[in-house]
Amino acid sequence: MDENKKLSRRDFLVNAGAAAAGVALVGSGLGFLTSKADAQGASLPEYPWVQHFDKPLDVEAIRAAGEANYFDGQGCAEAAFGAVLDGLGEPFSLIPSQILNYGKGGGVGWGTLCGAINGAAAAVSLVFGRDQATTVIVNELMAWYSQTALPLSADVNSVAGNPLCHASISNWCKASGKKSSERGPRCAALTGDVAAQAALYMNEVLAGTFVPVYEMSEETKECFDCHVGGMADDTLGKMDCKGCHEGH
Ligand code: HEC
Ligand code: HEC
Repeated sequence: MDENKKLSRRDFLVNAGAAAAGVALVGSGLGFLTSKADAQGASLPEYPWVQHFDKPLDVEAIRAAGEANYFDGQGCAEAAFGAVLDGLGEPFSLIPSQILNYGKGGGVGWGTLCGAINGAAAAVSLVFGRDQATTVIVNELMAWYSQTALPLSADVNSVAGNPLCHASISNWCKASGKKSSERGPRCAALTGDVAAQAALYMNEVLAGTFVPVYEMSEETKECFDCHVGGMADDTLGKMDCKGCHEGH
């Protein structure tokens, strides 16, 4: 066991190319990613990588891959992340999708942020980094998800009202009459839809045609203007307040 560790470490060190790549990656904060890249005989270029996203994504292929990854046993977050990364190709696809495993069930079953959004948004963030495009795409994805009946092509679909796994699953159970534990096929299709929607927005940003269309409801905007940075300035969020609070 120890011997194996020593050998693999020495192998790594005697491989001058890999060592040089490793040093460069440590410098960019991505040193922990060297193993998968090495395993595939590739090394990661210096970040940012936005210039490697230079042709439109195949939205329908990403939808299918998101669904298939889920049926393969990946959680929703990993499935969506991997679907977009594979659509993007290298260097993005060299990132281990397991980094998003924790996102399943809204954070290992806590029902917070829907994992499909989390995973797709992580891919968007990996592409655009700190560019404003990350914020506007993810913002639109959250709003679209909150207001859209999902999965798009299912017989039974439901509107979550916010980006929470908890609300999404609960409303689907109500609409379908099914149990939460029966959600597999539904969450698989939804994972594909969310990954595809992120890809669509990314394509629009690439083409320079992206225009956000979702707006906060008038009602929520009123609460928001007072409570988020306004007079009360005592909370944070863009979710529909009435989903959880009475007005006053
Ligand atoms: C004109 C400003 C204003 C608007 C508009 C407003 N609030 Fe408030 N809200 C306050 C203030 C001031 C308080 C009391 C102090 C505090 O909690 O910050 C308060 C208190 C609250 C509380 C704490 C519990 C309670 O009921 O006292 C909640 C929850 C709340 N507001 C939610 C909302 C929601 C939801 C909306 C929109 C439907 C809304 N507020 C609209 C100013 C506003
Ligand atoms: C998903 C449910 C959810 C949504 C949506 C939501 N809240 Fe809350 N909010 C909570 C919870 C939970 C608390 C903590 C309540 C507690 O601990 O008593 C809280 C607390 C608050 C408080 C402090 C309450 C107090 O008693 O002082 C305010 C003010 C508030 N929310 C305003 C808003 C506004 C404005 C919006 C919309 C922009 C909003 N909330 C959306 C769940 C939600």
